[in-house]
Amino acid sequence: MRGLTAKYATRSGAVTAVDNVNFSIEKGKIMGLAGESGCGKSSLALAMLKLLEPPNTVSGEVYVGGQEVIGLDGASLRDLRWRKASIVFQSAMNAFDPVHKVQSQMAEAIRAHTNISTRDLNRTMDDLLRAVRIDPKYKKAYPHELSGGMKQRVAIAMAMELRPQLLIADEPTTALDVVTQRQILILMKRLSREHGTSMLVISHDLSLLSEVCDEIMIMYGGRTIEIGGAEEVVRRPLHPYTGLLLESIPSLYEKRSSLRVIKGYPPSLASLPRGCHFHPRCPYATDECTVTPPAMTTLDGSHAAACYHPRVQ
Ligand SMILES: Nc1ncnc2c1ncn2[C@@H]1O[C@H](COP(=O)(O)OP(=O)(O)OP(=O)(O)O)[C@@H](O)[C@H]1O
Ligand code: SF4
Ligand SMILES: [Mg+2]
Repeated sequence: MRGLTAKYATRSGAVTAVDNVNFSIEKGKIMGLAGESGCGKSSLALAMLKLLEPPNTVSGEVYVGGQEVIGLDGASLRDLRWRKASIVFQSAMNAFDPVHKVQSQMAEAIRAHTNISTRDLNRTMDDLLRAVRIDPKYKKAYPHELSGGMKQRVAIAMAMELRPQLLIADEPTTALDVVTQRQILILMKRLSREHGTSMLVISHDLSLLSEVCDEIMIMYGGRTIEIGGAEEVVRRPLHPYTGLLLESIPSLYEKRSSLRVIKGYPPSLASLPRGCHFHPRCPYATDECTVTPPAMTTLDGSHAAACYHPRVQ
């Protein structure tokens, strides 16, 4: 991805939700994406597959297996979605059509993209359900007959059904209990390794991401502010925001009188602070932070951050 930028058209003008984001995911690897609510994670996911409708705009370049996405339109864009790149939307498990059985919803994208026979289609759906640890008999069930975790797994199976090269999963584990969350992310890691699918997994749970992802990227105010190997980012965060996010994770073992939080709120897109977007909340901010945005700088191997005063340890 090069220079991906997404702007929403609002009554008071265009606002930038994704600001010049660059990264790449290797084949069969998982990139985790974290950041507070409103930082632009879902907007980035939608922009990657050009899913923002005009008058909103997406610019930059996104390559999936060598094919550029942002320049595509109409039939070629439809052909790419599901087949080469698919997405599990935020709250996907609540988006099943309640009056259709699981199988008819699973079959839709396969039928739209292939001339598969009914027999092969049934076999494919059974295999997919087994791959996400669901008994194939549930394909005849209605969505309300499945638990939340099962529905989320069906959503992932659907996104994997045409063996895409890229899978984007926007908070695939939100609203599930911690055990199911972990199972789902471990399942995604297995699918990624087995099928060589590159994945972008969005989550608020940095410790869960560090367990399953190869790399982690942190966003703030629409910009990438840190990226690197998952363990590096979690163990030795360079950017003050990442450090504070990690300190906000409650621990069962550490005695604290109160939860640590990052003071203030993420900025509104309509009034983004000048310079480093994080400066009004940053304990290390100096005058220079308030003028020009810091550039992403590689500080340690492939570990990079956008900060004038990185916490190099
Ligand atoms: N259609 C839209 N029109 C205008 N602004 C929007 C639109 N959709 C999202 N935004 C704004 O873009 C910013 C980023 O939103 P986005 O949904 O990408 O955040 P997020 O990081 O996914 O948050 P969450 O963790 O809550 O899902 C927010 O400030 C939001 O208000
Ligand atoms: S650039 Fe300045 S304000 Fe921004 S995170 Fe770094 S120290 Fe804080
Ligand atoms: Mg979101």
